[in-house]
Amino acid sequence: MTQAVDTFPQPRDKKCPFDPASLYNEVRRSGPRQVVNSVTGEPAWLVAGYDDARTLLVDKRLSSDIRRPGFPTFSPGIQNLVGGTFIFLDPPDHDRIRRTIAPEFTPRRVAARRPLVDAIVDELIDDLEANGSPADLVSGLSLHVPTRVIGEILGVPRADHPMIQELLMVAFRLESTVEETREATAKFVEYINGLMEAKAKAPADDLMSRLMTGPVVEGAVTLDEARDAARLLVTGGFDTTGNSIALGVLVLLERPDQLAALRADASLMPACVDEVLRYSSITQGGRRRAALEDIEVGDVTIRAGEGVIIAQDAANRDPDAFEGPDEFDIRRTPNPHLTFGLGVHACIGRSLAILEMEVTFTKLFDRLPNLRLATPLSELRWKTDSHTYGVYEAPIEW
Ligand code: HEM
Repeated sequence: MTQAVDTFPQPRDKKCPFDPASLYNEVRRSGPRQVVNSVTGEPAWLVAGYDDARTLLVDKRLSSDIRRPGFPTFSPGIQNLVGGTFIFLDPPDHDRIRRTIAPEFTPRRVAARRPLVDAIVDELIDDLEANGSPADLVSGLSLHVPTRVIGEILGVPRADHPMIQELLMVAFRLESTVEETREATAKFVEYINGLMEAKAKAPADDLMSRLMTGPVVEGAVTLDEARDAARLLVTGGFDTTGNSIALGVLVLLERPDQLAALRADASLMPACVDEVLRYSSITQGGRRRAALEDIEVGDVTIRAGEGVIIAQDAANRDPDAFEGPDEFDIRRTPNPHLTFGLGVHACIGRSLAILEMEVTFTKLFDRLPNLRLATPLSELRWKTDSHTYGVYEAPIEW
């Protein structure tokens, strides 16, 4: 067996905050390599090449079931937070639960929510302007766009958002102690369960109510499965997109020529959003799987029962798949990045995340034409210690 030679995850280099850790370049060239999860001490195969990543993401011999032997756990926090949810189940249970939610997030249903997203982004930029320059991009805008949007869709009262943001931050931070994450998760579970119970008693026009009055009553999903799904949607909706919005604004501010081109031609926006997603690749914890059978990948054999970590951020910079992979190019098409995953677990919130990013970039750069960073990139605090990459604060002025 190949010896475990490195650890995962590797922190990004602060001097190149948008680039994946350079160790992954090496693994991309050499093929899958055994590494040790630095949080849990468990071994797993790290896959960093684009073709291998694409192939393995749709390989049914790999399981997403977190209870399987060899499954490379993230951190105790994430394990507790979303461990039982459908992102960590295999078909047929995964498919049955996903089917009850997926219709809410089709491109058509999401497009119909544009007025909601417009209103939320406008309101946040109104507040930014009212409070005046300088401001923090994260706590003033990027954190709240997805939180408010998914909050409206699910029916999570706005007054509770700061509490949820805090709990999720603790749970996602790799360095949180087991006790801290256990406490944060327990509070979050209790909160969601209480909210779902209230929705069942007094349904409103929101997704949590629809879950309780539809699939749960009809027996398509159990009460626990519905609660788990709601928790997963809050988690997915709250944490990820805000990071992508913040990183996108920073990347564009750092490249005035590309920002000018985007401002001059709105039709570049969809390609720009995809490029932000590829280039900044926030899911630095990778996709985790356990092998159900022996699988040959290049020169190595991943044995049944061994763990696999597919590093999408590294795959998104593979020179065999992307020309000039380390260049940020808002005109890049096609752009088959793996940031939203692939296969049965491909992100349910993809269209929503893209809409939120498009609306935020459009309105922000339009309404604040003199927007600039108030602190050099090198002085920002990056989320190298979290399952999802991003930035903790980013002072801006205009
Ligand atoms: C830029 C923002 C986002 C990124 C980068 C992202 C990324 C991902 C990725 C990589 C997966 C696949 C997981 C796997 O293969 O194991 C996934 C799944 C998922 N995402 Fe997202 N996501 C984003 C936004 C959202 C939003 C806004 C929501 C809320 C609606 C959401 C909800 C979900 C759910 C429920 C799953 C599980 C799907 C399944 O297992 O069938 N995500 N996401």
